[in-house]
Amino acid sequence: MSARYNFAAGSSEMPAAVLERARTELFARADDDGSTAFERPFTGATFGATLAHARARLKDLLAVPDNYHILFLAGGATQQFSMVPLNLLGNAAHVAYADSGHWSQRAIGEAGRYAAVTIAARYQGERPLAAPPLSPWRLPDDCAYCHITPNETADGIAYPALPDCGAVPLVADATSCLLTAPLDVSRFGLLYAAAQKNLGIAGMTVVIVRDDLLRRPALLVPSSCDYRVQAAQGSRANTPPTIAIVLAGMMFDWIVQQGGLAGMQACGQRKAALLYDAIDTSAGFFRAPVAPGHRSPVNVRFELAYPALTTPFIEYAAQNGLHNLRGHGAFGGVRASLYNAMPEEGLRALIACMADFTRNHG
Ligand SMILES: Cc1ncc(COP(=O)(O)O)c(C=O)c1O
Repeated sequence: MSARYNFAAGSSEMPAAVLERARTELFARADDDGSTAFERPFTGATFGATLAHARARLKDLLAVPDNYHILFLAGGATQQFSMVPLNLLGNAAHVAYADSGHWSQRAIGEAGRYAAVTIAARYQGERPLAAPPLSPWRLPDDCAYCHITPNETADGIAYPALPDCGAVPLVADATSCLLTAPLDVSRFGLLYAAAQKNLGIAGMTVVIVRDDLLRRPALLVPSSCDYRVQAAQGSRANTPPTIAIVLAGMMFDWIVQQGGLAGMQACGQRKAALLYDAIDTSAGFFRAPVAPGHRSPVNVRFELAYPALTTPFIEYAAQNGLHNLRGHGAFGGVRASLYNAMPEEGLRALIACMADFTRNHG
């Protein structure tokens, strides 16, 4: 076996160049205090520079307008399922959520602990699977925000476009799609993304929040989870996930070197088109349950016409160096995650493996 590729949905493959850089830089001792990245005080100048670099790079990549704060917070996206309503509900009675599948349903469940949730748009769940229709959406008058999950990592569904929520701030769980394509941040009141897909390693979530939303009175929120406190203290109200921030900075540098978000998008679209085409032209041996136009470019979900062949296929792929292809536990089948770091060679190896398996079992 030659190369090995990790198709996991998260934590997922990181670029070889970033891993190589991490191998040397994480262990290097800083001139000012002799610390390695693992030992570095978060209040010191060296870590301050690392944090400022990561923030500036991200601001640049996404062209984040000046009236937004970029926070690097400890914990995963699931924590934001609570932090968003806790911080943004204010005096409003309602929050609205679009149900587009697994992760939005998890976010809805959590928000319901703090606020009255209106389902703005409903997931149909019928095949071919699709994101909810973009109109009409139910948005109550007294609504603090409307939450969407633009890319449903488990279902393999992506919205074809953003909904128009009028004056209601749009909030997005962009965990599996942030930095895979250019994005107009000004369309959103708040965006969040856990790092373990395209931003590095688990343990950190990036929150990008519009300034005026921080001025709303909050419910009783632990201070380390209060966006206003973290914004005022530059994400250093308490010890931040320092290694995750160092690695995020390296990931951002790598994206810049690859041509920025336009480069990521072009490469991602090419990879996704190749794989969906291999599925669609397999004479039914493989099939994608999601409708064209709603298919995730980063989480490609597919099934085998003979379900009994699913495990043999996943095992055959693993024997050929293609790992972590099992679908999400809620759905089964196969899922290939093609985040930014997945090289085209990995994808071509997967397509070749699918063809070999079909020849042997078709
Ligand atoms: C879209 C989305 N939201 C939320 C989560 C949960 O993230 P975490 O495990 O960091 O809490 C995931 C994890 O895969 C995800 O893909």
